[in-house]
Amino acid sequence: MQPPRGTRDFGPDEMAARRALEERLRSVFRAYNYREVQTPTFEDLELFLAKSGPGIREEIYDFKDKSDRELALRPELTAPVMRYYFSTLKMQPKPIRLFYFGPCFRYDRPQAGRYREFWQMGCELIGDDTPEAHAELVRLALDLFEAAGLEDYHLRLGHLSILRALLEDLGFPVAEQAPLMRLIDKKELDGLRKALSVKAQGAKLDAFMRVFDYTRLEELHDVARTGRAKEAYDHLARVFGNLAAFGVDASKVRVDPTIARGLEYYAGLVFELDAPFLGAEKQLLGGGAYDLSGVFQQPPVACVGFALGFDRTLVALEKKGVKAGGEDVVDAYVAALDADARPALLRAVHELRRLGHRIELESGAVALKKALQRATTVRARLAVFAGAKETQRGVVTVKNLANGDQSELATTGLVPGLDAAIRAAARSGPR
Ligand code: HAM
Repeated sequence: MQPPRGTRDFGPDEMAARRALEERLRSVFRAYNYREVQTPTFEDLELFLAKSGPGIREEIYDFKDKSDRELALRPELTAPVMRYYFSTLKMQPKPIRLFYFGPCFRYDRPQAGRYREFWQMGCELIGDDTPEAHAELVRLALDLFEAAGLEDYHLRLGHLSILRALLEDLGFPVAEQAPLMRLIDKKELDGLRKALSVKAQGAKLDAFMRVFDYTRLEELHDVARTGRAKEAYDHLARVFGNLAAFGVDASKVRVDPTIARGLEYYAGLVFELDAPFLGAEKQLLGGGAYDLSGVFQQPPVACVGFALGFDRTLVALEKKGVKAGGEDVVDAYVAALDADARPALLRAVHELRRLGHRIELESGAVALKKALQRATTVRARLAVFAGAKETQRGVVTVKNLANGDQSELATTGLVPGLDAAIRAAARSGPR
């Protein structure tokens, strides 16, 4: 029996790599003083319908429980985290910096890099919408990929006020922009041109379509000269200025005025990070500024955040041959070749585990050949064994499996001796 379509089992090697990446990413959030939160895997369906509308039901797992409550598996974590913020944290001094890691569920059509159950690691910054704060958040996003060891990516930054102002100039007020934003988000440019041509033609339409090729701030300057578009341009310019001060590699970050973002709650700065070599499912991270206060009938609060697609990031690392780390190394494999040897070994194993070493213990008496085979199979640094002869002489044998060196240690003082031997083997290289 296979796991359900779009879900996966993760074996021990895969889990070791996932945990290693998770830890690296976590340490970046900690360095920026983000604090971890966790919310339920399912929520009231209403939470996700409120902002996105009933159409979202097609894309999520919703169900009724035995008491007829309408629930949904979360498709993302921003709405849940904001629910938690408004219910519990809203009186706390701002800014509030939260991060999270957990599974999300979407009724997407599965393909490479796109799953029905996938993991997001993300964050929300609540109560600071200055360009300085936005730049720091983008720096954090880039640091995650640096920590992961991925170099081949680029981040695009846009501002929805610019895009919306351009559409307004073409004759489409904000109330009529939703279907256009969807076409823009999917980069369906032929469909977009057709939809726009109802109200705009010729040079005007051509001029608008050219913004899809813009990559530099200067190119935007001329199309964002007045009102909210100008404010948005100034905001973006300050974000870029701060990114330069943060030492961000300019070749990795560019302007993209046509980022629309699929989720309906964004307003203001938006950004996406792609690994171009991945093809269709290349977006590794997305985010921006938003305000979900209306959903909870609360006063407005400025928020900005992003989520990193954890599974896709792993796919990208694998494609690039970058090891996420987390190599499974057993410090020592310990076997009694004879029942009399067991008590001394068991006491030592227990102490070594308390010292943090990873030990596989053979449960019964085995022949030496079997013991050494097993030690190799589990990739142990050391094989530790003792039979009747060793027990009589009050020693155990220690074999370093990387270089074949073999020595004896006295059973008195066995723990410090093995502790030192494990440390020395770890220093002398990976197994
Ligand atoms: P999102 O762009 O919908 O944003 O998702 C963030 C990331 O999750 C994507 O860039 C992608 O890497 C990954 N992802 C999405 N769907 C799938 C899937 N079916 N399989 C694998 N990976 C997937 C959000 O979810 C927003 N909540 C981000 C945010 C936080 N905005 C503000 N704060």
